[in-house]
Amino acid sequence: MDLEQLLTDRLAPAFATVAGSPVDPVVRRSPRADFQSDGALALARQLGRAPRAIAAEVLQHADLADLCSGVELSGPGFLNLTVADDALAAMVSALATDPRWGVPVAAAPETVVVDYSAPNVAKEMHVGHLRSTVIGDAAARLLEWLGHRVLRANHLGDWGTPFGMLIEHLVDPGEAEAAQDLSMGDLDSFYKAARAKFDADEAFRERSRRRVVALQGGDEATLRLWRLLVEQSERYFLTVYDLLDVTLTERDFHGESSYNELLGPVVEELNRLGLLRESEGAACVFPPGSVGRDGAPLPLIVRKSDGGYGYPATDLAAIRHRTGTLGATRLLYVVGLPQRQHFEMVYAAAAQAGWLAPPARAEHVGFGSILGSDGRMLRSRAGGSVKLVGLLEEAIARATALARERNPELGEAEAAEVGRAVGIGAVKYADLSSDRHRDYVLDWERMLSLDGNTAPYLQYAYSRIRSIFRRAGVAARPEARVSLTEPAERALAFELVGFGKVVGEVAESLEFHHLAGYLYRLAATFSSFYERCPVLRADGPVRESRLLLCDLTARVLRQGLYVLGIRTLERM
Ligand code: ARG
Repeated sequence: MDLEQLLTDRLAPAFATVAGSPVDPVVRRSPRADFQSDGALALARQLGRAPRAIAAEVLQHADLADLCSGVELSGPGFLNLTVADDALAAMVSALATDPRWGVPVAAAPETVVVDYSAPNVAKEMHVGHLRSTVIGDAAARLLEWLGHRVLRANHLGDWGTPFGMLIEHLVDPGEAEAAQDLSMGDLDSFYKAARAKFDADEAFRERSRRRVVALQGGDEATLRLWRLLVEQSERYFLTVYDLLDVTLTERDFHGESSYNELLGPVVEELNRLGLLRESEGAACVFPPGSVGRDGAPLPLIVRKSDGGYGYPATDLAAIRHRTGTLGATRLLYVVGLPQRQHFEMVYAAAAQAGWLAPPARAEHVGFGSILGSDGRMLRSRAGGSVKLVGLLEEAIARATALARERNPELGEAEAAEVGRAVGIGAVKYADLSSDRHRDYVLDWERMLSLDGNTAPYLQYAYSRIRSIFRRAGVAARPEARVSLTEPAERALAFELVGFGKVVGEVAESLEFHHLAGYLYRLAATFSSFYERCPVLRADGPVRESRLLLCDLTARVLRQGLYVLGIRTLERM
């Protein structure tokens, strides 16, 4: 279905005949024709012949008659390829009756664990968790749509030494009151108050220490209080996921504590494999390839000198569980770039232990920071970290106000619905449309604008097409004969047939800005088509064909936005 591939497959045998060995025809979109093949240029060097002569000879052998209406030798030896209108139309027709719009189900479906969101109990989710949640959810949606078995793993930070102090702080003012605070979602002040007491009060510190020991020792009363903390936090996080239209549910919480039982066996096995070394009282693995600034090997501490286990041990246990018990072959970790080294070391150690062996592999889907308009890390006015819910509420409020302004006819309920879909969509799209490896600036004006590469622009393009059908009072017929004569129709057709290729690439790279960029190009190409080619005013067969192009554009936009976790609206 992918045109570039189709042309490549046709040209490759011709090149092979001329070269006497396989050659890449190097086909790409061209400013001069629809596509061009540059293969002759590289081959010329190899054969020591003139590239034009090679290209001419390739032309004699190439079987392109049904696919191209024009093939032209140009410049130093390019082949300019013009795709035949009826070949392109046949492809569009095939898409129109394909419920997957040219995106095939994965040939080899696998079990994929997507580790994402992962906030910490009794702490506010910050903007880093927002990025993880938004990117991870897009990955889960995409891979699920491609037919993989996707297991969402919300690796909640629900264990460790801070819980001594948090539990003591919970019992101090009376449990009921503290639980009330927590359920209000005021996690940050809870955490900070506990921290302040811990820093100021020696007796509280001592109580906290004893609590940690009781918690690790499985003391029932302590565990009950710990569960209370975890449950209140989980409930709060679920309200955030709901607001964000994220597919994570309560079944996806697999907190760090859920690996407790596995930590002992993990360390034992590492020991048996001879991978453990003692360093300053701690049991460590020294994964190959990880060295510090001084060139000395870096330790991955699996058991601390006090006998406790930390973050690395839990992640090792999680890998062993995910590949061994769950049978996953692709492990994705959607976590900020500052944790890169941690994951590299964990993956290397897991590979040494045989818990991460091909075909199983792990990928750190890293991302940069969200910056404020001053170009520095996003901070609240008071200088603290920005509360995620506050940010989302602001997005919805701004989008609702804009919706009312742009369309005074919207009713109260409808304006609220549009405001929510656009506000949340804008936040998610701003994230997903930028290269995840980089930082990006949170800019309300830009992300809520109806012009440019934004969620509102795409949502508007979709609802505009839906309004065409409302006005027409008909639906498109997928079997309608497609005719492509105007350049704007051909341009739109080329975008539509390119969906499958982009989706396939993004499923590998998990660089969603390429999918966002594709949807933006599609919407923009549609817009020029709609300006130049009358749809409802056109005659019989042309009208039918154009309605089909409109409908197909809307469906691809909707599916693409669905993958990004963004809602479409019938009107806005
Ligand atoms: N809770 C951690 C944090 O807030 C992220 C956990 C990421 N996942 C993992 N398997 N380590 O930074």
